[in-house]
Amino acid sequence: MSLDVASATPNESAVPAPVTRTPVTRTILMCKPDYFTVVYRINPWMDPALPTDTSLAVAQWQTLYDTYVGLGFDVHLIDPIDGLPDMVYAANGGFVIDGIAYGAKFTYPQRQPEGPAYMDWFGANGFDVREPVEINEGEGDLLLVGDVILAGTGFRSASNSHEEVSAIYGRPVITLKLVNPSFYHLDTAVAVLDDTNIAYLPSAFDEPSLAILRERFPDAIIVTEEDAAILGLNSYSDGYNVVIAARAKDFERQLRERGYNPIGVDLSELLLGGGGVKCCTLELRR
Ligand code: ARG
Repeated sequence: MSLDVASATPNESAVPAPVTRTPVTRTILMCKPDYFTVVYRINPWMDPALPTDTSLAVAQWQTLYDTYVGLGFDVHLIDPIDGLPDMVYAANGGFVIDGIAYGAKFTYPQRQPEGPAYMDWFGANGFDVREPVEINEGEGDLLLVGDVILAGTGFRSASNSHEEVSAIYGRPVITLKLVNPSFYHLDTAVAVLDDTNIAYLPSAFDEPSLAILRERFPDAIIVTEEDAAILGLNSYSDGYNVVIAARAKDFERQLRERGYNPIGVDLSELLLGGGGVKCCTLELRR
C-alpha cells in the first residue's frame, strides 16, 4: 500500500480553513445592449475604428442575464435607448441603497442623457430619487461593502460627489483615488465579494488609497495584472456565487480557494466598450 505523501504531511499553514459562504439573493437592474456599438472614445478600451457586433453583444449579455436568473436573482430591465450605446453599462446609471436612488451625472456629454433616463426608471419603480449636483457615475465609482461606501475618483466621479453621497445616506464614505486610465471606474479595480471581503488591483490606486485598502482589508484577494487587464475584477457576487470574466483564471482559483463559487462568463464584445460583468449590473437595495 502506497503512502499518500500529500495527505500524510499536510502543510496546514498553506491550506486556508474551509469557510461557509452564504448567498444573498440580489435584486438588480440591467439594460439589453440593443444599441451597443463603439462610436466614441472615452476610455482607453474603446476604439471606434474596431468593428463591433451588436448581435454578439446581445447574445453574450443574455448569457449574463440567464446566469443571474439561474442564481435566483430578481432582475429588472430598463429599456435601451437608440443613440446611447453605453447604456448597457447599467452600473453607471445610479447608486441605490435604502430605497434611495442617487442619480448619475456623467462626465462626458456622450453619456449625459443616460442620467435622466435612469432617474425616470427609478422614480417609476418606487425609489426616492435624488438628483445629483456633483458629477458621479453611479455604482461604477460607488461600492457598498457592509456599511461602508468605497468611492472612486480620479477619472470620472468628482470627489465632491462623495460628500453628497455621505450626506444622503449617512454612512461612512471612503475616498479612493484611481491613477491608471485603464481602470477609470472603481468597479474595474475593486470587486466586492460580500459584506467584509473585497478583491483589488493595487497598482490602480495612489499610495494613500492603497494604505487605506491594506489597513481595512488585510485579507483581500490581490488579483494579477493579467486578470485585471481583461477587467477580471469587474465581477458581481451574491456572497457565494461570484460571476466573473471567464478568462480571469487566477482570480477564479483564488475565489475557489476561499470558498466562493466563481462562475465564468464571456463578455468579450462589451469589453470593447471598456466594461464587463459588474458594469452591466446595478444593484437595487430597498
Ligand atoms: N464605455 C463606458 C464608459 O467609458 C464603459 C462603462 C463601464 N462601466 C463601469 N461600471 N465600469 O463610460
